[in-house]
Amino acid sequence: MQQEVVDFLIIGSGVAGLRAAIELAPHGEVLVITKDRPSESSTEYAQGGIAAVMSDEDEVGIHFEDTLKAGDGLCKEDAVRTLVQEGPERIVELISWGAAFDKEGTKLSLSLEAAHSRRRILHAHGDSTGKELERVLLKKVRTYPSVRKYPFAMTIDLIVRDSVCHGAYVLKGGAVAALFAKATILATGGAGQLYSRTTNPQVATGDGMAIAFRGGAVLEDMEFVQFHPTSLYSPTAPQFLLSEAMRGEGALLRNIDKKQFMGSYHAHAELAPRDIVSRAIISEMVKTNSNHVYLDLRHLEKHFVKNRFPRIHSTCLRYDIDITEDLIPVSPAAHYIMGGVKTDIDGRTSVRGLYAAGEVSCTGVHGANRLASNSLLEGLVFGARTGTAACEMTVRPDSSIRYNFTPSTIPDTDEIRRALRKLMWEKAGIIRCAKSLGEAADQLRVWRDHIHRDYATRNELELKNMLTISEIIVQAALARKGSVGAHYRSDHKERGERWQEHLWWDRQSLAMHNLALLPEGKDSCGR
Ligand code: SIN
Repeated sequence: MQQEVVDFLIIGSGVAGLRAAIELAPHGEVLVITKDRPSESSTEYAQGGIAAVMSDEDEVGIHFEDTLKAGDGLCKEDAVRTLVQEGPERIVELISWGAAFDKEGTKLSLSLEAAHSRRRILHAHGDSTGKELERVLLKKVRTYPSVRKYPFAMTIDLIVRDSVCHGAYVLKGGAVAALFAKATILATGGAGQLYSRTTNPQVATGDGMAIAFRGGAVLEDMEFVQFHPTSLYSPTAPQFLLSEAMRGEGALLRNIDKKQFMGSYHAHAELAPRDIVSRAIISEMVKTNSNHVYLDLRHLEKHFVKNRFPRIHSTCLRYDIDITEDLIPVSPAAHYIMGGVKTDIDGRTSVRGLYAAGEVSCTGVHGANRLASNSLLEGLVFGARTGTAACEMTVRPDSSIRYNFTPSTIPDTDEIRRALRKLMWEKAGIIRCAKSLGEAADQLRVWRDHIHRDYATRNELELKNMLTISEIIVQAALARKGSVGAHYRSDHKERGERWQEHLWWDRQSLAMHNLALLPEGKDSCGR
């Protein structure tokens, strides 16, 4: 088996991974591994922008309050304080590295999104903010010879011995390699691909959470999955995100009878919190027996719409929708998971030597529902902090650990993947109840009994990870008998008892639910 020893291993190359790499670069050799191209991450597709207090009309304290309010009582305040206080500094630094945020005259152009009480969303090239961040961070990373990229390498598992992480086993070009490191940082993003409707790219299969879980780490808040209200709905088009910034600029929602409806669901109408807008859309779809509603920008000035949303405009045109003239068919889609690998505000997980930052992690900064455009900021702030903290690991990793990789295959990977995504959408989606979740749990258990080995391809490993994380989401959603933030139970519409507790999961706690996800006696380094 090929082996390599580096100082720091980063898995994932979105905003959090790259920002951590920049912090670590002066301290040793950094290897950034990705299962696809380095630029293929949720960051690359983020449209709306990045929230931060960058104007005299705004205050850090107001951003703090807005974030807590969106989080619906479950945010961890130290994480939120860190995010809003350090955010502006991280933005200024990014601008000094060449980030070109849109301006009005000499001032930054700031837009409004749902549940923000001030205009504070910075954007770039109209609606390509994530792409600009990825460009600038990749360019900065290239200036450090100590940082190397290692693309098309799928992580199989972490190398964990005696509760210390020593790196990861990866599959590259059909062969297994052991990558040993003093500190390993997970920055693998989210898990939107668990759902048949999602705004997330193909790579978002929950890998980081699954390998951390198998390595003994604690996952937290897994029942909280955010659904974005407006993704393009068309049988022939991708489920393309239609940024919340469009509603911030005045776009309206109409049902298929062309009637506006948000005013009857919430005082803030189109700018109500995301979970409320998503459920209102589902309710209108049920009432009108339709599988979509419409987003309407026809009343806005055409030139403004084209300039403000150039990427959305050109993408929709490819599917024969002119957003300046036509009603746009939309429906909600899985967008972001608030839960993840439990960390402190410096990215430390419950496993020594293992760190996590960005969507894969759960600092508690988003509580039960993320405030729009706080996630790119999360990646920058906590990516940098995690990089700084990871320098504390000074002991060379134990590279004597051996792994017996005995690959097997899943004959019907594509069919199970498709069925799993449909199951999660229908039974563990925007509106859940004990019955639907119980049915999902039963079916997932059937699949799990067949899928718990080492696999020979990226597709199979992804499916194994998707199954693990789906089971945990379903168990968490069953366990929270109440509705808070993005977690809505039609059979428990109130908050429920002890609603302020955070639910966490590790291999032992799942074993108590008769859900040992690994065969007896097998640990993550396969000894
Ligand atoms: C959007 O542009 O609507 C997405 C922004 C976000 O999810 O933070």
